[in-house]
Amino acid sequence: MAVLAEVEKKRSDGVALPQPRAAVLAMPEYHPPLAGREALRLDFNENTFAPSPRVLAKLQKLTAEGLTVYPEREPLERIVAAHFGLQREQVLLTNGVDEAIHLLCCAFLDEGDEALICTPTFFMYDVSVGMMTSRLKRVQTDDSLEFPFERFLAAITPKTKLIMVASPNNPTGATVSREHLLAIAAAAPQAVLMVDEAYFHFHGETTLGDVGSVPNLIVARTFSKAYGLASLRIGMLAGDARLISYVRKVSSPYNVNGVALAVLPEALAEGARCADVAERGELRADGHWPAAQGAGRGDARARRAAARPVERSGVRGLCAHHPRRGGACDARDRGAAGVARRDAVDAE
Ligand SMILES: Cc1ncc(COP(=O)(O)O)c(C=O)c1O
Repeated sequence: MAVLAEVEKKRSDGVALPQPRAAVLAMPEYHPPLAGREALRLDFNENTFAPSPRVLAKLQKLTAEGLTVYPEREPLERIVAAHFGLQREQVLLTNGVDEAIHLLCCAFLDEGDEALICTPTFFMYDVSVGMMTSRLKRVQTDDSLEFPFERFLAAITPKTKLIMVASPNNPTGATVSREHLLAIAAAAPQAVLMVDEAYFHFHGETTLGDVGSVPNLIVARTFSKAYGLASLRIGMLAGDARLISYVRKVSSPYNVNGVALAVLPEALAEGARCADVAERGELRADGHWPAAQGAGRGDARARRAAARPVERSGVRGLCAHHPRRGGACDARDRGAAGVARRDAVDAE
């Protein structure tokens, strides 16, 4: 009570209550849509079918003791790095790409620095940049919804410190060629170029092979979409070891939970099939997940799921919620990301 009285006295004397930084007051807020989660929401671009049966099998083997220990990220970063032909120092596992974006902004943006994105794009870029600097430049996409490459290049200034490009983009589905991405990196050597490859599996072109040789390039990948692990929150950044060391410095040592880390090798092992399914469009051709290796042997539940017809959408499926696109979906971009009815899993 004495404390309360003291606070009240200070307030009546004109002492202000705690306030956040000016940037936090000014930054936009992400309001996740709360309605309609019992049905399929294409605007989340989730894989609404299931992760790989290997992941599900591993989940069932987790022990109570395993949950009591802090999750070590490093051994898994070695596995991920080896999987992608990188050094461990070039890889940082994150709590989804959402956190990766947040960490990049913390590591590379000061007030007064400029960040560059196209618009429309993934809203979390606005949120995380706004937390650090008021100088977010948005290059407007025209009616074609293609990436505005020339105007984007022209918007780079010496103050540009972080550039974020999603390819394929959410919500337009537009892609940016590797050649154009490398040209952007070359035009802004003072800036980090983050290429967000959340939807890589539904397009196939990547700049991951340029990590290390392009000193200002960082590639983000998520395990939420094609791998179907959105609920576990795991993603990764791959880039020049020096740049990644700064992002590692601002990240919590235990940012990725142990369940996600435990199933990651299984998800990676299934990765080739996952990419294959998306690239070959097998889902499109017959409306089923292919009768998978994992879905066979003894796992009746997975077998039933594999045999269940699904409806498909994909990156451009988002456009159903994009007024300018009028709901048009481009078959080119359809793939496993927007796959299926939620009840295919829930009903099991
Ligand atoms: C382009 C893009 N990047 C990143 C994310 C977030 O991915 P994560 O689930 O790994 O945080 C999304 C999610 O919709 C996205 O569309």
